[in-house]
Amino acid sequence: MRLKRLALCAWAFSGLAWSQSAPTGLRCEYLVAPMGVDVPQPRLSWVLEHPQRGQAQSAYQVWVSLTPGVPAGDQWDSGRVNSAQTAHVVYAGKPLASGRTYYWKVRWWDAGGAASPWSAVTRFDTGLLAASDWKGRYIGGANQLRKEFSLERAPARARAYIAGLGYYELRINGRKVGRSVLDPAFTTYDQRVLYATYDVTGFLQRGANAVAVTLGQGWYGGRVLKFQLHVEVEGGGRLEVVSDASWKVAQGPLLADSVYDGETYDARQETSGWDRPGFDDSKWKPASLVEGPKGVLSAQLMPPIRVVDTIVPLKLTSPKPGVWVCDMGPTFSGLVQLRVRGARGTTVRLRHAELLYDDGTLNVENLRAARATDTYILRGDGAEEVYEPRFTYHGFRYVELSGFPGAPKIDTVRGKVVHTDVKPAGGFIASKPILNQIQRLLLWGIKSNLHSIPTDCNQRDERMGWMADAHLYAESAMLNFDAAAFYTNFLRNIRDIQGADGSVTDTVPHKYGRRPADPAWGAAYPLIAWYVYLYNGDRRILEEHYPGIKAWTDFQRTRSQDGILSYSYYGDWVPAERTPGDLVSTFYYFYSAQLTARMAGILGRAADAETYRKLAAEIQEAFNRRFWSADNQWYGNGSQTSQILPLYLDMAPKDRRGAAFGHLRNSIVYYNNIHLMTGILGTKYGMELLGRSGQLDLAYDLAAQTTYPSWGYMLEHGATTLWELWQERTGPSMNSHNHPMFGSIGAWFYSALAGINADPEKPGFERIRIQPGAVRDLRWASGTLETVRGTVLSSWSRTERSMRLEVAIPVGSEAEIHLPTLNLPDVTVRESGREVWKGDAFQPGAPGLRGARRAGGVIIFQAGSGHYRFELESQ
Ligand code: BGC
Repeated sequence: MRLKRLALCAWAFSGLAWSQSAPTGLRCEYLVAPMGVDVPQPRLSWVLEHPQRGQAQSAYQVWVSLTPGVPAGDQWDSGRVNSAQTAHVVYAGKPLASGRTYYWKVRWWDAGGAASPWSAVTRFDTGLLAASDWKGRYIGGANQLRKEFSLERAPARARAYIAGLGYYELRINGRKVGRSVLDPAFTTYDQRVLYATYDVTGFLQRGANAVAVTLGQGWYGGRVLKFQLHVEVEGGGRLEVVSDASWKVAQGPLLADSVYDGETYDARQETSGWDRPGFDDSKWKPASLVEGPKGVLSAQLMPPIRVVDTIVPLKLTSPKPGVWVCDMGPTFSGLVQLRVRGARGTTVRLRHAELLYDDGTLNVENLRAARATDTYILRGDGAEEVYEPRFTYHGFRYVELSGFPGAPKIDTVRGKVVHTDVKPAGGFIASKPILNQIQRLLLWGIKSNLHSIPTDCNQRDERMGWMADAHLYAESAMLNFDAAAFYTNFLRNIRDIQGADGSVTDTVPHKYGRRPADPAWGAAYPLIAWYVYLYNGDRRILEEHYPGIKAWTDFQRTRSQDGILSYSYYGDWVPAERTPGDLVSTFYYFYSAQLTARMAGILGRAADAETYRKLAAEIQEAFNRRFWSADNQWYGNGSQTSQILPLYLDMAPKDRRGAAFGHLRNSIVYYNNIHLMTGILGTKYGMELLGRSGQLDLAYDLAAQTTYPSWGYMLEHGATTLWELWQERTGPSMNSHNHPMFGSIGAWFYSALAGINADPEKPGFERIRIQPGAVRDLRWASGTLETVRGTVLSSWSRTERSMRLEVAIPVGSEAEIHLPTLNLPDVTVRESGREVWKGDAFQPGAPGLRGARRAGGVIIFQAGSGHYRFELESQ
């Protein structure tokens, strides 16, 4: 990589025609070469690199074609567009047709007008764009469904479209299609059903073919299939296979399946060859046409759930005769693959748990009603049998085997890690080990809970899209993972459950909790939309959801009285110290109004912006009237969260700020011996507030704390993922050991310590503030992000007398780089060896650096794109 970069530089400076490379990282709707795009005008994005600093795109040209090599822009030739836009460029060509493959490429002109070569060609496939394109009917009748058909000529192109509820596994001619599991995503099925599109050309053959589908109940709680296969054969000719009454069905070896309870699989009932052509299905019943859900069919435009990793167990013990327990190491979401040999009809039971009792047996008390048990009944033909459940998942660290024939070995089981296959998009690491350990906890916790929706937990009888949990860890998820498409889908889920009165619900899809949502929970609608916008510059997400967000704010208004919103169910949930619910609800009512105003401004709706600014001002006034205690000089009941919330959004008038902040500080430092007493809400905003109010050292002490309540306390007590409670509990009460809502600290690592900050005025990292958190004993920290515009890096280290900072800013972005002077006298700064600051003044000349000024303990550099290495030293 390094060599390549050097070579590139040499090439650039040698004065050859191409100074910049072709665009890379081409995406459509956030996805690489997506299948089944059903957005009428999908958005295209690309990433640029340039050997020179301070570079930007002055123009681009996109060609879209139905011909693989893209010899011309026959579907769309954007022409040379003078624009710096590299992300979310809206397709503006001929109307897209259903079920086609569109190939595209792009080139760009740099700031000096030099053109790049064309990018490599990529593609997107359209889905079924009109409801009338769907010919398949919903069918059901049993959990195995099959259909044979014949092709007179070899297949040239084939696409399968499938909506199989609750879960499906699609097989063609004996092979599983795709790597998705637990598909499709959980939606409000009467509003929206997601279908997947697969390229199955390679699965088909001339002559006889068979499509075979197994259905599980999933979240839908029933089994129905809608399917369509479009085949084009060589030399022309088309064939469609659709789900209808001509399919055959039978009950297979899967005797029972439930997300919470697990699966029962009787291998004696397997009918080999049922998924291939030529199978005798004369005893099978015809499929019945069934009602199916009422929802529209919509393409699943996000990464599916997959088996993403395999875990080898750490330890195998036998706490009781005939009972074995495997310790997988971390707590995770997934299942166990079992290898077993034994007599026909032998029944092996796998029970999953997060906890053990002291005697080494499973403690399943905190799973509540979820049985989390998979049962496998052996075929017993002498061969080794491999079983992996399909339509369930568990949140667990330990698995118990009983009924196993003989003695299991460590190789008997493997852990399969299962979650939405979001790729890592960021990294954070620092010199303080406990921070890295917390980062590991929250990464495992968040991944375990990205399960087509952001869930609260992964083990007990919930696993729901609880909305506060969702917005609290959304930023951590977006900074660590490529999750924009995932949250785009979740926002649609929120819109799907919105009532005509504007109300949203505590969980989305709505299965648990109430309507209307607790205001702190409903806030997920404006907040998640805002985060997607902030981190990706995605204006369309605001356009799409503005009416719904506004309706949610209006709904809260109908429930408010004189600017106060009093209803509250949970408030600052699971705290060490309680905060009044009406204070929390009114804070979120204010936050909603403020975001609505802001979004209206961005979307050019000036009248709305004014209306909601006024509303926010009214709420703010009411908040101060109601919750400020003149006697005590604090907000609410004096709890930490009561101070944090109004301070975080600058709701406190200047003359109260100092008192409220002072009280907060005293509470943390003196009354509570450097501990947060906050619940999930106060924790997120508290860390951010301290960080940006000159109290980063205190926030850091809280992050590094190891006694109750703290993240370190969880670690010291053996946590491998974040807990639901600050307390250590193991009984039947609510105490999940994998609950990512306290994972909000993950975003703080990037912003406050590594120092990478997005700027709402130029979202999507078009403008970046790099502000390293050189605090206390932290010697170095490093953060890297793959953004829509390319890589952002901030990596710093320091000694007693020096500070180094390495920064990468993508082409087309600009940065404000805050270099701490560490209170050193008489500092000089070099950038890549060249003096850029000396005698308390900026030294011009370094490419990309546009200026610098001193502001207290930092020197702030203005920089264009490029890779910079700063070294600050005291003379
Ligand atoms: C969930 C939470 C959720 C809460 C609402 C719990 O059962 O697990 O994380 O936000 O209910 O109070």
